[in-house]
Amino acid sequence: MPVGSMTQLGTIRLGKGAAQRVPKIRDFMPLARLSDLVFGGWDVFPDDCYAAALKAGVLEDAHRDSVKDFLQKIRPMSAVFDPAYVPTLRGGTNIKSAASKMDLAQCLVEDIEGFRSDSRVNRLVMIWCGSTEVWIERAEAHQGIKEFETGLRANDPAIAPSMIYAYAALKCHIPFVNATPNLCIDIPALVQLAEANGVPVAGKDLKTGQTLVKTVLAPGLTARLLGLRGWFSSNILGNRDGQVLDDPGSFKTKESVKLSVLEHILEPELYPELYGNFHHAVRINYYPPRGDNKESWDSIDLTGWLNYPMQIKVNFLCRDSILAAPLVLDLALFIDLAHRAEMKGIQDWLSFYFKYPMSPPGVDPENNLFIQLVRMKKMLRFLMNEEGDGIET
Ligand SMILES: NC(=O)c1ccc[n+]([C@@H]2O[C@H](COP(=O)([O-])OP(=O)(O)OC[C@H]3O[C@@H](n4cnc5c(N)ncnc54)[C@H](O)[C@@H]3O)[C@@H](O)[C@H]2O)c1
Repeated sequence: MPVGSMTQLGTIRLGKGAAQRVPKIRDFMPLARLSDLVFGGWDVFPDDCYAAALKAGVLEDAHRDSVKDFLQKIRPMSAVFDPAYVPTLRGGTNIKSAASKMDLAQCLVEDIEGFRSDSRVNRLVMIWCGSTEVWIERAEAHQGIKEFETGLRANDPAIAPSMIYAYAALKCHIPFVNATPNLCIDIPALVQLAEANGVPVAGKDLKTGQTLVKTVLAPGLTARLLGLRGWFSSNILGNRDGQVLDDPGSFKTKESVKLSVLEHILEPELYPELYGNFHHAVRINYYPPRGDNKESWDSIDLTGWLNYPMQIKVNFLCRDSILAAPLVLDLALFIDLAHRAEMKGIQDWLSFYFKYPMSPPGVDPENNLFIQLVRMKKMLRFLMNEEGDGIET
């Protein structure tokens, strides 16, 4: 059962009054069929997908072993990787070497074209799910396509491996989604390249656990005009993502994204007396015994009538990968659909899936989950030339 997947379980309201109907999205939209999907990718470790799943320990034996043969056939291609960008990720041997970042990009293009012809697929999408890279400031090499390509040739440190993958995808006219908090495709150079090559892109950082809950609760506070004095978010997790985030550089990248969501939802410029001065902190602690089963605590200090203080505590015992998997599937299907509909550049109608949704220059990102849902369904109806009744479920 594809729990959590909008493309597989979600419905959409169409038409008005007596003409109204509510089909499943997968029956209404011409999405790629699951049985037609073929998988390939890169990793710094040479393990096939079965061996990787065994080590990750997310799935129970029965689930994992029911697809053992299928998973064993998926072997990662060698990665474009530099430990300077993920200092805690050690011991990988499946790594390309080349004189320049431009040469590495060329190797990825060859991998992509090799995969395209070996698997005989008609269309490709690339979802970046690699480890969180260290914080990178926006730099000259990010400003335009020419500057970026000069930087690739000169091994500019402002160009991280995730950007090289994104560049290779766009050169091959492949839609690209950034599921991580890295800058990656969120730079003018790569957005320009996406526009120039007619490729849709989206990101960044999947909205799965604590931030999902945050973007459900915060709109509730603003709807009732309750004030906020502080929101303290803390997490423990013990998977490799948690280990990578133990590095202060990688944590800074994650923190910047996680901190951004409340500002946009609470709109302190409109309600300075309610949200003009709240304290927001995010902590992530690597704690191996929990593996992929993340635990988060949110301690929310709010205020009511006459500014009387109140508190909400949320303790979410979630599963990181179980929450992320359906979002990756949905994004693959939707970005492929967008490409077929000749949409290009930033697809902010997919904001629903992200902690820090990319948005076109001059447009504020939307973080409220319910507004994001309305916008996404509106776009789906628009693509199919259908009307709605203004209500979403
Ligand atoms: N719930 C979630 O799982 C979730 C939610 C939101 C965002 N994310 C983000 O997604 C990313 C991956 O998370 P994860 O839990 O799957 O981590 P993971 O450690 O299980 O997987 C990341 C993989 O990327 C590989 N990798 C790192 N750099 C690479 C490179 N340059 N080329 C090829 N492979 C590379 C690593 O070897 C590892 O196998 C992180 O940035 C994480 O913050 C995950």
